[in-house]
Amino acid sequence: MITNDMVKEKLSNVMYPGFTKSIVDFGFVKDIAVKDNTASIFLEITSSAKEVEDSLREEIAKELKLLGVDDLQLTIKKPQAPKQMSNSQSGKNIAPQVKNFIMVSSGKGGVGKSTTSVNLAIALAMQGKKVGLLDADIYGPNIPRMMGLDDSEPRIEGNKVMPYQAYGVEVMSMGSLVEPGQALIWRGAMIQKAIQQLLQDILWSDLDCMIIDMPPGTGDAQLTLAQSVPVAAGVNVTTPQHVALDDSRRSLEMFNKLHIPIAGVVENMSGFVCPNCQEESDIFGIGTCEGLAKEYDTVVLANIPIEPSIRVGGDEGKPIVYFYPDSVSGKRYLEAAKTLWDNIVKFNDNGEIGNESIQPTMPEGVSACSSEGQAHAAQQKSNDSCGCSH
Ligand SMILES: Nc1ncnc2c1ncn2[C@@H]1O[C@H](COP(=O)(O)OP(=O)(O)O)[C@@H](O)[C@H]1O
Ligand SMILES: [Mg+2]
Repeated sequence: MITNDMVKEKLSNVMYPGFTKSIVDFGFVKDIAVKDNTASIFLEITSSAKEVEDSLREEIAKELKLLGVDDLQLTIKKPQAPKQMSNSQSGKNIAPQVKNFIMVSSGKGGVGKSTTSVNLAIALAMQGKKVGLLDADIYGPNIPRMMGLDDSEPRIEGNKVMPYQAYGVEVMSMGSLVEPGQALIWRGAMIQKAIQQLLQDILWSDLDCMIIDMPPGTGDAQLTLAQSVPVAAGVNVTTPQHVALDDSRRSLEMFNKLHIPIAGVVENMSGFVCPNCQEESDIFGIGTCEGLAKEYDTVVLANIPIEPSIRVGGDEGKPIVYFYPDSVSGKRYLEAAKTLWDNIVKFNDNGEIGNESIQPTMPEGVSACSSEGQAHAAQQKSNDSCGCSH
């Protein structure tokens, strides 16, 4: 006779896709009922991606067949996919398999934008989301190193490139596709092409979200991204001593100009955690970002202290949230990822995601940043403003 425990044991062989932990260990199996050779199972999972459900159905059916179950009634409850107000339905989306794009920006380099992108992406994946991480910082692509992918060569399938996999996250970087140093001389149209190729020509799976590490500042890359996909949320990274500088403000102002809802500010290098006694001390001033966040009607997602293991983790490709989820910063990144996700759901529900108004209809291959593109936009504008019927 088949018992509930026997079914549970078989289910503990089924790994949650992308992880080395089973659906039982994750606590996703909510109910098992067995009668003769019929098993009814109720699962509640954290990803709304169809691919995850399909893979689970297949694996579970395989396992239970071994037990002699002939009739399997499997109910899988998924989080409600955020309403797609903008994605692919209105507004342009050149990578429609990605549901929510998150733009991570900073006013200056060196404030911890890449560190934040890496740890937030992994935290979201640890919380069961299907996550992509795109390193669009053409001037200083360092995501591969931080994700432990330094020596990896890209794998090509047909005319598409496969993303790398690390710590439950799909990853691609401009740094993996160009010779070192080559990106430094890129301008307008080339940047546009590069960003679009990273979105279009990489075989990304169906993803709940994609974190995009942008170049610092506000330039062609930011504009191109907003013109190519509906951006669900902007995250700004700053350090307490940089808050007073106009750069941080300019970077938040850019989100408003591009009609990107602001999910929050990450205050990085906010105090110092002593590796010996774990005590947190103030260096540059903790909490100065609170006022900045309020000014832009948003929140501080996390105060991340200077922790030596964050830097070592970055250099060695061992991100802190994955290797030390119980450290001060590990916990804060996990908390920040939750707030970020809640905000994205809220933005979707309220229909706030809509940067299509800044998406000009450029002819194929013409950059909106180029002089040809500007001329086209001006021409369109003058056509549009003519309300005359002759
Ligand atoms: N909270 C932190 N504690 C310790 N080191 C940090 C922290 N945040 C960033 N770093 C280190 O500072 C350097 C710059 O961070 P990075 O994420 O590369 O900045 P950006 O992408 O903004 O240029 C890296 O060596 C990184 O490991
Ligand atoms: Mg960086």
